[in-house]
Amino acid sequence: MSQYKETFQRAKASPAEFWSEAAKDVHWDTFPSKTLNTDNSPFNKWFEDGQINACYNALDVHVENGRADQTALIYDSPITDTQRKISYRELRDSVALFAGAIAAEGVSKGDRVLIYMPMIPEALIAVLACARLGAVHSVVFGGFAANELAVRIDDCEPKLILSASCGIEPARVVEYKPLLDNAIELAKYKVPRCILFQRDALQAPLIEGRDIDWNEAVSNASPAPCVPVASTDPLYILYTSGTTGQPKGVVRDTGGSVVSLKWSMSNIYGVQPGDVYWAASDIGWVVGHSYIIYGPLFHGCTTILYEGKPVGTPDAGAFWRVISEHKVKVLFTAPTAFRAIKKVDPNGDFLKQYDMSQFETLFLAGERCDPDTLEWAQQKLGVDVIDHWWQTETGWAICANCLGIEKLPVVSGSPSVPVPGYDLDVLDEQGNPVAAGEIGALVVKQPLPPGTFTNLWGAPERYQSAYFTTFNGYYETGDAGYVDENGYVFVMARTDDVINVAGHRLSTGAIEEVLAGHPDVAECAVLGAADELKGQLPIGLVIINDGCDRSNDDISAELVKRVREHIGPVAAFKSVAVVNKLPKTRSGKILRATMRSIADSSNWNTPATIEDPTALDDVTDALKQLGYAEKS
Ligand code: COA
Ligand code: AMP
Repeated sequence: MSQYKETFQRAKASPAEFWSEAAKDVHWDTFPSKTLNTDNSPFNKWFEDGQINACYNALDVHVENGRADQTALIYDSPITDTQRKISYRELRDSVALFAGAIAAEGVSKGDRVLIYMPMIPEALIAVLACARLGAVHSVVFGGFAANELAVRIDDCEPKLILSASCGIEPARVVEYKPLLDNAIELAKYKVPRCILFQRDALQAPLIEGRDIDWNEAVSNASPAPCVPVASTDPLYILYTSGTTGQPKGVVRDTGGSVVSLKWSMSNIYGVQPGDVYWAASDIGWVVGHSYIIYGPLFHGCTTILYEGKPVGTPDAGAFWRVISEHKVKVLFTAPTAFRAIKKVDPNGDFLKQYDMSQFETLFLAGERCDPDTLEWAQQKLGVDVIDHWWQTETGWAICANCLGIEKLPVVSGSPSVPVPGYDLDVLDEQGNPVAAGEIGALVVKQPLPPGTFTNLWGAPERYQSAYFTTFNGYYETGDAGYVDENGYVFVMARTDDVINVAGHRLSTGAIEEVLAGHPDVAECAVLGAADELKGQLPIGLVIINDGCDRSNDDISAELVKRVREHIGPVAAFKSVAVVNKLPKTRSGKILRATMRSIADSSNWNTPATIEDPTALDDVTDALKQLGYAEKS
């Protein structure tokens, strides 16, 4: 039997034994005597009587075991022309001091702390300081607008917000303070305190009595020790898009996260302590949590915090510069970043300027990887390019080519095979397994492995109903796909209203709620249309109220602005058209999938259940005006 199959079977046959063994590889204040409790499934408990601290495993353990002077973090910011290397000792000391500063503001174990920060070392210090105290961090991506921030404040009720004066995008400085103040104003829950890091690019005014300057807070602080927490205590909440405007607060536990992420570093990514590992993502996304911050640090690697873009900061050679300058062994990013590079530099000319001999593997995830991009990367880089599939909910890969176990042949278009711990099935609508090659719902048999989500914050019923009810005994991933005869998995599409824009997960339902809130809009639909660079882009189709005499162009412009203001620039919502009718079934359900097929010029048939087929002509014309549906 192959090494992969043997490991997979072992994890499947006895998950408790398998993960109890993996748990020995991390530091516990009390080693767990119980590995897995499934009594209250799906609210399973991993390592329930273990005591652990995630920050200790990320920093102190390495300082105490010979890595004190090794670089823990390289901050590489072409956007501010700055570089900083921070050793494990320095990072531990900064984190301990900042933990002391937030403890002085009353933060302790179990309290929530919201972090709204750009890609600067202080953001990582903020996250780890929370973990040090056993406080629950919730990082919100900087590209979200005040309203999204307010929704998250109300949901997790933080004792403290940690922020900065600004983020820096290539074409503009993003002032965080007005967004933050507006969000606090909009939220019903009143945040008592904010600590704000002033960046050189912008000094933000502080509100007396509420806001504290970061440096001042630190200068008055004394270092705080690590607080051991129960393995099942939450490490963090990370909000992600669901089908409505109310995001889902994915809760990850502490012990499971430490064990699974540490395990994944050697077994999936094939890296060793001391290696340089770079996840080119943002700390606001799950990739940032797992593989900019926690995974590499748990493993004693050097992690890179990159504040820049794949192109334009300053050119399409930016990634190659970072790889060669810092001797990166593994890069993890989204295919969209490679599509952006390929578009600007199709021949890979920039590559010729850099010595990339240390570089071994490129991992891609976050969206479906089109074979063209995979092949281009393989050919230009001359290294293994590994597509792997995962989600905010799982926190680490469901399917991958596990390089540390056994390198399997790469199959274009497939994220390879289920990772040990994930017992994957493909089911039809009745919950029966389908034959090899047939598309169905991708589901994972319970129990999910450690490190996956253990609840939704404040919404246990939604946790159960959204993920564990459709298929009894399974976790429903929300993705559809198939497994071929060799056991390779192919992830084809979402089964819900989630779309994927430049590797960012967005809810069409949430955008529809914003459009529907415009006083002139009677009805609307948002769909994700295929886009060469970003994978998908949201398109809005709206019906205007009878009697409204305003111009369609004015209303469309207001709608674009409205989505930017309510959700944020990250939604990349720029296309909206006015229609007279939306195609619906006789029971009133909007036929989004048909409209998406029309937009993408893929094959489609008029659904038998359609109420008024002429609505399709109307929509086709509107989509053509927006530059879609070219071949319809
Ligand atoms: N704070 C504030 N605004 C932000 C932001 C942040 N952290 N990140 C993005 N934005 C803004 C951008 O400036 C842009 O605004 P604009 O409409 O004024 O131009 C908008 O949000 C859309 O951003 P994005 O989708 O990132 O598009 P882009 O054109 O700036 O860049 C790529 C396109 C492909 C280069 C970029 O998406 C990328 O590097 N992706 C890498 C993959 C990745 O990070 N994936 C995450 C999961 S692994
Ligand atoms: P997020 O929670 O933002 O990480 O988005 C998760 C979703 O992105 C998944 O449910 C998939 O729809 C998609 N996704 C992530 N990785 C892949 C991949 N390798 N192949 C196909 N789709 C992917």
